[in-house]
Amino acid sequence: MALRSATINVMIAAAEKAARGLKRDFGEIEHLQVSRKGPGDFVSAADVKTEKTLVAELSKARPTFGFLLEEGGTKAGSDADHRWIIDPIDGTTNFLHGIPHFAISIALQHRDAIIAGVVLNPATDELYAAEKGQGAYLNNRRIRVSARTRMDDAVIGTGIPHKGRLDADGHKQFLGQLEKVMAATAGIRRAGTASLDLAYVASGRLDGFWELGLQPWDMAAGVLLVREAGGFVTDAATDGDPLTTGNIAAANPDLHAGLKGLIA
Ligand code: IPD
Repeated sequence: MALRSATINVMIAAAEKAARGLKRDFGEIEHLQVSRKGPGDFVSAADVKTEKTLVAELSKARPTFGFLLEEGGTKAGSDADHRWIIDPIDGTTNFLHGIPHFAISIALQHRDAIIAGVVLNPATDELYAAEKGQGAYLNNRRIRVSARTRMDDAVIGTGIPHKGRLDADGHKQFLGQLEKVMAATAGIRRAGTASLDLAYVASGRLDGFWELGLQPWDMAAGVLLVREAGGFVTDAATDGDPLTTGNIAAANPDLHAGLKGLIA
């Protein structure tokens, strides 16, 4: 791995430790799928357990940092400038259904900036990592966003809002965006894990990605991955910060403005 700072090592070690437990849990899902009770409670417990492991490991290494956690909410640290932003299982619906496309996402925020990010898919052992100013990596390989310049060659990822996510107007707005993007591109993908969607933009597998109504823990690490891989990331409509608005548009530099134009 070309990233060698103490901070990124701490993040990778924490993610890998949590991933070992999550891998075992994922192995159980198949059996629970066919049980009458289903895997729902088991998955909630796995989510909480994974988050606890991450918090314990990161606190051991950096006892003063705070946390923003999907499950546990906000925990202030004595260092007001640093906090970890964590999603223990991004892509919970995939995990629940036994689909091997989910991730542990850890970002480190310093004041307003994300300065390090790790996204690890325990089912494939793909580990994405980035540090501000140091580039983005998939396992030991430097990654870059795609070089495609034509929207009609582009494959664009998105997330489809489901019941309970966005109101009826939000669903309508999304359908309008879908119509525009599908008419202009080589294809749309909906894989179900925003952090991995962003990691795929960073590694050039996807040419762009947009989604409405995300939470900071779904995006924080992925946003840094895309930027460090040479891509652009903004709010879906403005030049604002997606971590604040929840709406994101990410793409290679040639397609970012075009994607935003389509979803405007
Ligand atoms: C979800 C995933 C999914 C996205 C949803 C998110 P979670 O996160 O990132 O791709 O479409 O909007 O809520 O709940 O599985 O951590």
